[in-house]
Amino acid sequence: MDKLRITGQRVLQGVVQASGAKNAALPLMAAALLTAERVHLHNAPQLMDVRTLAKLLRSLGVRVEQEGGDIHLDAAAVNHFEASYDLVKTMRASILVLGPLLARFGQARVSLPGGCAIGARPVDQHIKGLQALGAQIEVEHGYIVARVSTPSGRLRGARITTDMVTVTGTENLMMAAALAEGETLIDNAAREPEIIDLANLLRGMGAQISGDGSSQIRIQGVQSLQGVEHRIIPDRIEVGTFLCAALATRGDITVQGAEPTHQDALLDKLREAGAHIDTGADWIRLRADALPGGRPRAVSVRTTEYPGFATDMQAQFMAVNCLADGAARMTETIFENRFMHVQELVRLGAQIDIDGHTCVVRGVPQLSGANVMATDLRASAGLVVAGLAAEGQTQIDRIYHLDRGYDAMEVKLRELGADIERIKTSPGG
Ligand code: EPZ
Repeated sequence: MDKLRITGQRVLQGVVQASGAKNAALPLMAAALLTAERVHLHNAPQLMDVRTLAKLLRSLGVRVEQEGGDIHLDAAAVNHFEASYDLVKTMRASILVLGPLLARFGQARVSLPGGCAIGARPVDQHIKGLQALGAQIEVEHGYIVARVSTPSGRLRGARITTDMVTVTGTENLMMAAALAEGETLIDNAAREPEIIDLANLLRGMGAQISGDGSSQIRIQGVQSLQGVEHRIIPDRIEVGTFLCAALATRGDITVQGAEPTHQDALLDKLREAGAHIDTGADWIRLRADALPGGRPRAVSVRTTEYPGFATDMQAQFMAVNCLADGAARMTETIFENRFMHVQELVRLGAQIDIDGHTCVVRGVPQLSGANVMATDLRASAGLVVAGLAAEGQTQIDRIYHLDRGYDAMEVKLRELGADIERIKTSPGG
C-alpha cells in the first residue's frame, strides 16, 4: 500500500488548478443510464471512485471511455441490471445506479453498500422513496431486489418527504422521478451544489425539474431522455482542502477553476481564523502570511447539511485548529463516527479531547511529524494538512483512502512548494 512522506513547514505559495467534483461526477455518470443516447462529461476528476463507477457501469453493459477530464458514456446496450457486492463494497456511491436502472429498465439488483469507517450509512431513505414511486423492493441475501410493478411498467410520481436530508438519496430519487409518470415532489431534499449540477444535466437531457438547491424539488416525469454534453462543477472539498493547507502553513495560494459561491460557510470560518481571502468569478486566493502571532485563531465549527459547514471539511479544518491560538469546539452532526483522524492528529502532537459528537481542540504552537495512518478519505486529507505544517517528517500510511477522492493531490501540493512524495510499496506491503 502506497504511503505519503511529507517534510513539513514548507510555506505553500502559488497557483493550483481545482479538479471537477467527485461528488458531482458520480451521480452524473449514473444518470447516463437514463438514456440510450450518448452522454459526454467534461472536467471530470481522475481518481479512484470515478474509475470504480466506470467499472460498475461497464459491468451493466454501458460503454464508458475516460480521456483525461472527459468521460463518454453510452448506455444504449445495457443488458444487465445487477451491481455486485464486490464492486459496491468498494464504493457506496454505487447505490446511485439503483434509481436510474429502475426508471429506465424497471428492474435492478444492487448490493446493500454495507457500512463504512465513518458510519452505518444505511440506504433506507433511498428504498422508501423508490417504493413511494411504485417500486416493489425486497432486501434479500444482502441485495436490494427491485422491480417496477405498475400496470404501465413505469414508476409513477409521488410526494416524498425523506426522514433526514440525504445527498445521494435525493439524487437517486431525482433520477428515478425524471422518467416516472406524473409529478414528484421531493421534500426535505438536499441542497448541495452537486444536486443542482445533476438537475442541470437532467434538464439538458430533457427532464422537467425545478426547485433544485431548495429543500423542495419538483419533477414532472417525461417519456424518455436524450443525450447531453455537460461540464462538471469544481470540487469544493478539494478546493477547501488546499485552502486549509495554505492557512496551516501560513502560505499564499490561489485556487483556479473554483466556484467561490459553493463554499461560503468554509470561507467565513477561514476568515474568522485570520486568513485574508479574495475571490473572483472562478478563483479563490487565501493569504495567511501575516497571521497575528503567526498562528490562526481557534474557530469553533458545527457541521450541518449544505449550505452549512460541510462534514467533508471537518477533518481538514480540525488540522488548522490544532495549530490555533486558543481552543475550539468541533461538532459533527452528520455521521456518527467521523473522528478517526483525532487519534492520528494526537500522534502529531495535537491536543484534542472527544466528548461524543464534539471535540475540544486546544491549539499548540507546533505539531511534530510522525508516522500516522489514514482511516477514511477526508481523515487522510486532514492528516496531509497537519503533516504539511508539522516540524520534521510525517509518513501517512494507507493512502488508497486519499486516492479515492483526490486527483493527484501530492503533485498539486508539490507545485505549491510542499516537500511531499509518494512511496510506492509492493501490493499488500
Ligand atoms: C454524500 O454521502 C457524499 N458522498 C459524502 O461525501 C458526504 O459526506 C455526505 O453526502 C454528506 O454531505 C457522495 O455524494 C458520493 P447522506 P451520502 O445520505 O449521500 C443518513 C466524501 O468524503 N442516511 O447525505 O451517503 C446517513 O447515515 C463522502 O466525498 C440514512 O440514515 O450521505 C448520514 O448520517 C463521504 N439513511 C446522513 O443521513 C439513508 O437512506 C447523511 O447521509 C441515507 C442517509
